[in-house]
Amino acid sequence: MTIILVNLVILLIASFFFGTWIRKLHWVLFGISLGIGIYSFTQEITIINMGYVGLSFFLVVMFASGLNPGKLKKRLMGNRAEYAIMGGIFVLVHGLKYIIYALDFSFFWFAPINFYIGIFSVMIMIPLWITSFMFVRKKMKGKSWKKLHKLSYVFYIAVFIHLIWINNQRMWFYITLCILYVFVKYWDYLIYIKLHDTRKMTKV
Ligand code: HEM
Repeated sequence: MTIILVNLVILLIASFFFGTWIRKLHWVLFGISLGIGIYSFTQEITIINMGYVGLSFFLVVMFASGLNPGKLKKRLMGNRAEYAIMGGIFVLVHGLKYIIYALDFSFFWFAPINFYIGIFSVMIMIPLWITSFMFVRKKMKGKSWKKLHKLSYVFYIAVFIHLIWINNQRMWFYITLCILYVFVKYWDYLIYIKLHDTRKMTKV
């Protein structure tokens, strides 16, 4: 829990102070993340191959829209794609590490359910991850991109189930995050409806 929260704070501070640089230097950051990810894959236990770092990146992506309007929100919203791509790299390292482990020790078909939910969530994540790269996104129609990215809700819910199902001492932490996320999205929805209604009224 501490690792996730510390990572989260680092990512918030980085975006707040260096948000523009994160956007400008995104390829360098993706390269560094890949390098760190590959190194971490070769190690026995790290905070990356255990899944914590990837999760922290995605928590920022998930909760950014729920923040009060201001500089931090603006910066975070502007770094969402970069954070999602870096988070995706770390999550892939984590997933692959566990899959190889399961294959090595011949329990791939007899693993706990949370293992398969993890695989399911990554299967959802891969098309979202690929289409988060700006050069891929530009090749798609805005509407199709938005439609595809609605799947991120399925991904997030699958991630929460993956984490809660582990049923360890952090279970209540994950349940709290999941409830908070539902509230944030509900709040977003209410604001969206309000804006929609106000626009309709001004048109009349
Ligand atoms: C191929 C996909 C995945 C597989 C095979 C997988 C597998 C696992 C396994 C076996 C565990 C350990 C459970 C235990 O300690 O008993 C775990 C933990 C974890 N996974 Fe995944 N996972 C995958 C995807 C993901 C994704 C997409 C995320 C987040 C975005 C994630 C985040 C985590 C975290 C943070 C933990 C540590 C939880 C804790 O110890 O509190 N995993 N995963």
